[in-house]
Order: sequence, then C-alpha cells, then structure tokens
Amino acid sequence: MSLDEVLNQSHQAFKSCKTLNDLEIEKAKFLGKSGSVTILLKGLASLSIEEKKQKGAEINLLKKSIEDNLEQTKVRINNLILEQKLNTEKIDVTLSGHKQQLGSLHPVMITQERIEQIFASLGFSIAQGPEIETDWFNFSALNSPLNHPARSMQDTFYIENTDEHGQNLLLRTHTSPIQVRYAKQHAEKYKHTEIMPDIRIIAPGRTYRVDSDATHSPMFNQIEGLWIGTDVSFADLKAVYTQFLKIFFEDDDIKVRFRPSYFPFTEPSAEIDMAFSKNNQQKWLEISGAGQVHPKVLENMGIDSAKYMGFAFGSGLERLTMLKYGINDLRLFFEGDIRFLQQFSQT
Ligand code: PHE
Repeated sequence: MSLDEVLNQSHQAFKSCKTLNDLEIEKAKFLGKSGSVTILLKGLASLSIEEKKQKGAEINLLKKSIEDNLEQTKVRINNLILEQKLNTEKIDVTLSGHKQQLGSLHPVMITQERIEQIFASLGFSIAQGPEIETDWFNFSALNSPLNHPARSMQDTFYIENTDEHGQNLLLRTHTSPIQVRYAKQHAEKYKHTEIMPDIRIIAPGRTYRVDSDATHSPMFNQIEGLWIGTDVSFADLKAVYTQFLKIFFEDDDIKVRFRPSYFPFTEPSAEIDMAFSKNNQQKWLEISGAGQVHPKVLENMGIDSAKYMGFAFGSGLERLTMLKYGINDLRLFFEGDIRFLQQFSQT
C-alpha cells in the first residue's frame, strides 16, 4: 500500500469515529504494534542505506500527520459529547430546591443574647472572665474566707495544681468573680480621679457546682449584674431588676417579691421571686439572688466603701429560659436532641 493510501484510509477511518473508544480501535490499526505504519517502518530493514534515509523520512511524515489528525479528531469527539450533554441534560429551574440545614443558637444562648440586649439598653456593658478561677476571686474577695461555712453553699470542682502565684484554682461557682476582676481594674484606672465613673456591667457565662438533678446541673449558665456609684440604692436594684423582668417576659403586670436572704457578699441580701399562675393558682418562683454589695467586698475591689455603694444580682440563665418557654426539665438543655433544639431555630 502506498503511503498516500495509508494516509487516506486513516482519515476516512477517524472521520467515522463517534466515540473515543472507536478512535482507540482505529488508532491501533495504523499506529499500533501491527498497524500499517509500524509495518511500513519494519519494511525499511531490507532497504539500502540511501533508500532507508528517503523512505524513512517519508514514513515519519506520514506518521506525524496521522497523529495530528488523531488529535483533531479527539477534539471533535469531545465537543460532540459536550454538545449532546448540553442538549439532553437540562436543569429545571422551576423545581423546588433542597433546603440547606442551618444550625441555630441554643435556647439558653438565645436567652443570654436577649438579656444582654435588654441590659445594654439600660446602660450596662458586658464583662467576661475565666472559667478556671483562683480561690481568691471566686470566694475570698467575695467575703467567703477559707473555712467560712457559706462556702459549702457552693461546692465546686477543684483543680489540683495551683497557679504561678501559688493560688488554689477551681471551676468558678458563679460569675461574681468577673465582677470583682472588672471592678478592681476600674478602681485602679480611676484611682487618681476625684469621683470614679459608675461601674455598670453584666457578667454572663458558664459556672460549675457539685449538683445534679432535674433542676440542677453540674454546669450551668449565669448572668450577674453589678452597678456601683455614689448613690446606687436597693430601690435602684428593685427598679432595674423589675424593669428587666417586664421586658424579658413581655409582661408589664409581672409580680415581683424581694424576700430577705443571706449571701456573704451582699448586705442586705434578697432572693427575688416572681409570681406565676398555674392552673389558676399563683406560685412564687425564685429567679435571682441579689443585694447591696457588702462593704468588705467593695474594699477588696479597691473601692472606698465610705464613698461608694451599689447592688449586685445573679440569675441562672437555664431557669429564666425554662420559665420563658415553659420547659419543665433542665436536662433537655444538655441532651442535644435535635427535636427539642429545632423548636428554637430562628431561621
Ligand atoms: N453569686 C450568687 C450565686 O451564684 C448570686 C448573687 C449574685 C447573689 C449577686 C447576690 C448578689 O448564688
């Protein structure tokens, strides 16, 4: 067969290929081990050196143009496949889509954010602090010295090592130590000013106690408030906290009761109760501890207790969330059951 004939044949063969597989088969017929071009090259062996040179060059040219044609055919077939796909695979934009599953805030965190907004609107800033606390910030500064019986009100998880100053470490039992840290810094910052600007903060965060039943969890969340100034009285505490409850529960007729109580860090101290009606019966539920900051605590904060006074309160975020949404078991918050959590999704 002449070289031209081989070339023609290959062109014809490639032209009729419709798939890459067809093309592979045709390619083998020309360029494969026993393909026409290979046979032609083998035939060179019996020729003289002169003839080899000339014929060899011609065969290589032939091979080159078959290869070029092969590449062009590949491009043609690929375009063909793409075109077929475009024609057959249509997207129906009128079909309803698949909804993306979005996460959402945990109900207790929804409460925290809401309370932060309410207190921000009342002029409070948000303060934060460490969950692993020193004994001093968690207890001693708050007027519960070592071996004080009031410490047993809040038993917690102790950490075996001490910090670099030899201070005992524990998981904080309340967010009150945040208030001590904040107030101390504030007092230090304004120690050369005649009158220190008011401290007005809320301190939200995780807290820990050795406690576990339907209404107590070893880990829970608190939000505590502190307002210190020259004339911040118990009446201000009543006004601020009652106002907060009205906004939080969206009820202007809310009934609140301040019941005398004891905390080492406040004097006088109170438990704040709120009235709820259940089956036509009124029930008082405790929602917060509160009181006027004890003079000793003020001194531990570096604040002159003869010049300044103020109030503090501390509420459990889980408790407030349960009352707001009518949840009756605290453990639901920690089980991670999607059917429970989904009901609070805001998306
Ligand atoms: N820290 C107290 C507690 O966790 C609550 C509290 C805060 C009481 C501030 C009075 C004043 O029990």
